[in-house]
Amino acid sequence: MATISKIYGYEVLDSRGNPTTAALVELSDGSQGKAYVPSGASTGIHEAVEMRDGEEGRYKGKGVLKAVSHINGDLADALIGQESLNQKEIDRMMIDLDGTEQKSRLGANAILAVSLAVARASAVSEGKDLYEYLYQVYQEDFFPEATLRMPQPGFNVLNGGQHADSGLDIQEFMLMPQQETFAESVRAGSEIYHTLKSILSAENYTVSVGDEGGFAPRLPHNELALELLERAIQEAGYQLGKDCFLAMDAAASEFYTESEGYRVEGQIRTSQELVDMYYQWIESYHIHLLEDPFSEDDFESWNMFMDNAPEGMQIVGDDLLVTNVNRIHLAINQGLCNAVLIKPNQIGSLSETMQAIQLAHENGLTTMMSHRSGDTNDTFIADLAVATGCQYIKSGALARSERVSKYNRLMEIEARLNQ
Ligand code: PGA
Ligand code: ZN
Repeated sequence: MATISKIYGYEVLDSRGNPTTAALVELSDGSQGKAYVPSGASTGIHEAVEMRDGEEGRYKGKGVLKAVSHINGDLADALIGQESLNQKEIDRMMIDLDGTEQKSRLGANAILAVSLAVARASAVSEGKDLYEYLYQVYQEDFFPEATLRMPQPGFNVLNGGQHADSGLDIQEFMLMPQQETFAESVRAGSEIYHTLKSILSAENYTVSVGDEGGFAPRLPHNELALELLERAIQEAGYQLGKDCFLAMDAAASEFYTESEGYRVEGQIRTSQELVDMYYQWIESYHIHLLEDPFSEDDFESWNMFMDNAPEGMQIVGDDLLVTNVNRIHLAINQGLCNAVLIKPNQIGSLSETMQAIQLAHENGLTTMMSHRSGDTNDTFIADLAVATGCQYIKSGALARSERVSKYNRLMEIEARLNQ
């Protein structure tokens, strides 16, 4: 069995042009693995700590040299000589070495970079494709009933909230084409995306894009986004509610404050008003999945919404759950949602991410693998989604290479699986 012979960390840039952590791991048999960590903008308050230097004169305080120094220092010192296939043990050692609840001593961005790079190096060492290797790890260590499967994509084609200056309160408006294959869903998504662009141009809206590659027109209200999507789907030759559905990430923590409550389109809304608004949209626009309809600690509203959720509706916790098994347990016990968003950097290690997926699947919750709004061309989540049988994946629009790289990798995996 190969052992870890070298680990080094360094800074790279994410898609917003901010620094993020990278790690390279080398094994005694010469195998190498590399990983880049993404970064969110609408981050949940319960997420593991993304360590930034805070040194104003360098990258406006956003440098990650401290986290990098932890990769090259504490983490390398502890892990060199370890057998790389012991992913669970390696992650456990890093978590213990950090010793804090939210990985605030070494930084989740340091630990995750190493965790993912170790898995990649191990896959190379085993002569396996990453998704095959991760499947093996997940099956052996976490979930014996795991099945390899292609996820269904959610393409974020209109950007709002913290991801654009469109003025839209809702952060993400997504297309969910339901074609026979992943590749055909990508094709449908791309055709609708380009049709949407033509419609926006014809209506004199800007076609500049937001952080996740979706268009960011300054629309007067949120519902118009849904109307435009309906039109684009039709004009592209698809049928809303039949071969394409819609999804939204409200990211409601971003329009909620303790003092005011929820503010949408300039008006304060009660939870009940928000619920009514969502239900009306869900019915009128075939919305199949709704993420973070309420703020991350507003359990009462989540619960009320779940109680009357339409049949088959996916109610996804992102900021609510932060890929954390304790929060997922709480959601299961209190009936807060029926689906879990999975972002490895919210929790900070591969093993804990897999535990979160396992807990969700064992309890009948679906999972949606997710990129971050600040991302790179690292495609780890594509392989992870297939290996763990996640039902859904979102990686932004059908444009910009940090977004399409995940979809392209999934098309490659699909082609391989069908060989
Ligand atoms: P973030 O957005 O990466 O900025 O958190 C993605 C999401 O909220 O799902
Ligand atoms: Zn979200």
